[in-house]
Amino acid sequence: MAKFTLPLALALSAVAQAQVATLCDQYAIYDKYPFLLNNNLWGKDKGSGSQCTYVDKISSSEVSWHTTWNWSGTDSEVKSYANSGFDFTKKYVSDIGKIPTTASWSYDNTDIKADVAYDLFTAADINHTTSSGDYELMIWLAKYGSVQPIGKQIDTTNIGGYSWDVWYGGDAMKTYSFVPSGNAITSFSGDIKKFFDYLTQSHSFPASSQNLITLQFGTEPFTGGKSTLTVSKFSANVA
Ligand SMILES: *[C@@H]1O[C@H](CO)[C@@H](O)[C@H](O)[C@H]1NC(C)=O
Ligand SMILES: *[C@@H]1O[C@H](CO)[C@@H](O)[C@H](O)[C@H]1NC(C)=O
Repeated sequence: MAKFTLPLALALSAVAQAQVATLCDQYAIYDKYPFLLNNNLWGKDKGSGSQCTYVDKISSSEVSWHTTWNWSGTDSEVKSYANSGFDFTKKYVSDIGKIPTTASWSYDNTDIKADVAYDLFTAADINHTTSSGDYELMIWLAKYGSVQPIGKQIDTTNIGGYSWDVWYGGDAMKTYSFVPSGNAITSFSGDIKKFFDYLTQSHSFPASSQNLITLQFGTEPFTGGKSTLTVSKFSANVA
């Protein structure tokens, strides 16, 4: 038996290390339609640390990935937004019927300051850069530590079977953020068009003149020791 131990161990470690892609540079991306993975360390200069994102498995309908980071520095500043983006035909929010999506994830360390969130941008100009918008819709599935969205809380509402605190703020870009009133939602599956419907009905969001241009899911770390977010499944559609 002993003589088989070493080759088997080598074979297993080779399997464990097999990744579709490893992204460690500030804006390293992996683009495979309809998904775009981005390490996106946009705020790294607000602290020190490192982060790599790993694409584990990808098909035309879903992607699995994880990201490992540690960040020190300013507690109130986001360091990065490692994310899985979904590509789609841009159109007015009012012309979208539904945005079904699933996100199943886990964090191995919750003694951190971070969120786990969807991030969507809309813009009147369909050719607006996809890294910002006139409006931003954030749907937080978790909030760890004393972090909070941009602006201030303006409402609470029920969407998709969950209760949410609604926040609003921003300058050039107006940000609406939804934060679960209860526990972290580690397995989300639902139609996030309903968030736009609520904003249109209750807060005069101009759905018929704003194009949906970006749809992403990931994590925003502020600070914390070595932590890994594992997204076992992300899928989305804009129909
Ligand atoms: C972050 O991780 C790197 C690499 O493992 C390590 O050298 C560094 O000391 C860590 N920094 C913090 C702030 O934990
Ligand atoms: C957006 O860009 C495309 C491709 O360059 C162009 O054909 C189209 O006219 C532009 N649309 C608007 C509204 O500017």
